[in-house]
Amino acid sequence: MKKNSSLTGKNIVLGVTGGIAAYKSCEIVRLLTAEGADVHVVMTRGATQFVTPMTFQALSRNTVRTDIFNLTEESEMGHIQLADKADLILVAPATADFIARVAHGICDDLLSTVVCATKAPVLFAPAMNVNMYENKIVQENIATLKRHGYMTIGPATGDLACGWEGMGRMEEPEAIVAEVKKRLMSKIKAVR
Ligand SMILES: Cc1cc2nc3c(=O)[nH]c(=O)nc-3n(C[C@H](O)[C@H](O)[C@H](O)COP(=O)(O)O)c2cc1C
Repeated sequence: MKKNSSLTGKNIVLGVTGGIAAYKSCEIVRLLTAEGADVHVVMTRGATQFVTPMTFQALSRNTVRTDIFNLTEESEMGHIQLADKADLILVAPATADFIARVAHGICDDLLSTVVCATKAPVLFAPAMNVNMYENKIVQENIATLKRHGYMTIGPATGDLACGWEGMGRMEEPEAIVAEVKKRLMSKIKAVR
């Protein structure tokens, strides 16, 4: 681990969900580890359709977790350990589906359970098709997250992988990592 970098000694859980922007999360891991952070990646089943756990494992040099019902990892309540040790949880990309599940208190996989169980700040980077993003239910779910003390960054406007143009692009990795640093240095704690 690098010493004297701005994130040295920080444990960051990076949740990756099943959106096309998942490939950009590889760069997020690289940037966070370059700053000295210890990054623990948790992927939804959907996310593993886009990027392999092996890629995140090699980049983070930590075991990547995808499954809550894992006899080895859960022998000591691994999901609670992850939730407790995180200084910050970043969910990037955050799908419409994942946002909905957290907004409704649904804990039906490892990542949603860890997010529900943590007292750490949680930052979501939504990414989806513009029409999905503008869907009123999605907007209500994002508002619910904010009302309950969860933080968001983006999405940005631009060309989308689906061929549409508009709001829905995940913020660029550099901007997300800058936000992570800002939130970790902030004296204002999330109230949840
Ligand atoms: C090619 C492809 C790209 C997708 N991109 C997105 C996306 O960018 N954002 C999103 O919210 N859902 C996207 N989806 C849909 C999600 O994968 C789907 O809702 C899934 O259930 C999400 O599961 P998760 O939230 O557990 O990862 C995409 C699906 C496919 C097949």
